[in-house]
Amino acid sequence: MTNVLPDRRIEHDWTNRQIPPNVTWGDGFYCESAQSFLHFKGKRELAVEFGNHVSVYAASQLAVGPQGHVKIGDFTLLVGALLTCESEIEIGSHCLISWGTGIADSDFHPVAAAQRRIDAEALAPFYEGKPERPIEAVKSRPIKIGNNVWIGMNAIVLKGVTIGDNSVIAAGAVVTKDVPPNTVVAGNPARFAKRLSS
Ligand SMILES: CC(C)(COP(=O)(O)OP(=O)(O)OC[C@H]1O[C@@H](n2cnc3c(N)ncnc32)[C@H](O)[C@@H]1OP(=O)(O)O)[C@@H](O)C(=O)NCCC(=O)NCCS
Repeated sequence: MTNVLPDRRIEHDWTNRQIPPNVTWGDGFYCESAQSFLHFKGKRELAVEFGNHVSVYAASQLAVGPQGHVKIGDFTLLVGALLTCESEIEIGSHCLISWGTGIADSDFHPVAAAQRRIDAEALAPFYEGKPERPIEAVKSRPIKIGNNVWIGMNAIVLKGVTIGDNSVIAAGAVVTKDVPPNTVVAGNPARFAKRLSS
């Protein structure tokens, strides 16, 4: 059972948009609106894989780049989360990902000042002298989130981070380093707050 219709539109959706063909889902998949794929540019044969009973609510966005791959495990809920994926984002099962959470496996722009200027010009839609984007200077690293992880409102998970099973990311935390299993982290940058019994 799912609320996605055979033509990949969503039942009672306010937009006529379809879920892209390289997105798959399991039994019990619920998606509030195909608008969640507004910024989807995935070109891989399989760009997004949703497991069984995954729910995608509210203004969640799957902004997947041409080479991006997202995998989301069974019973995971995304509520107004933004996933920006240039390489790989894997989220386990039974995860709760709250309002305003950002999960970004790439910086999307170079850190070096001169290259950032070029990138800004390259991204200007109507600029005729557009240079090539300095993509090779942009850092991207896969993100792996384990099973039964809860990410609170407005938290941010940055490139290269692995979060262990059963851990909790406090509201507003900015996670720049790996989080072990059964651990609460909080703050910016996120630091150990307490250990959970498993
Ligand atoms: C700021 C940023 C570009 C730095 O990337 P980087 O040069 O690869 O830096 P590192 O990951 O090596 O981090 C350097 C230090 O800054 C800290 N740090 C990095 N980003 C941080 C952030 N957003 N908040 C707090 N601390 C941060 C790291 O923990 C590290 O601390 P340490 O020296 O104590 O170990 C990157 O972390 C970032 O925030 N990228 C933006 C992602 C984003 O918003 N993408 C969408 C853009 S459209």
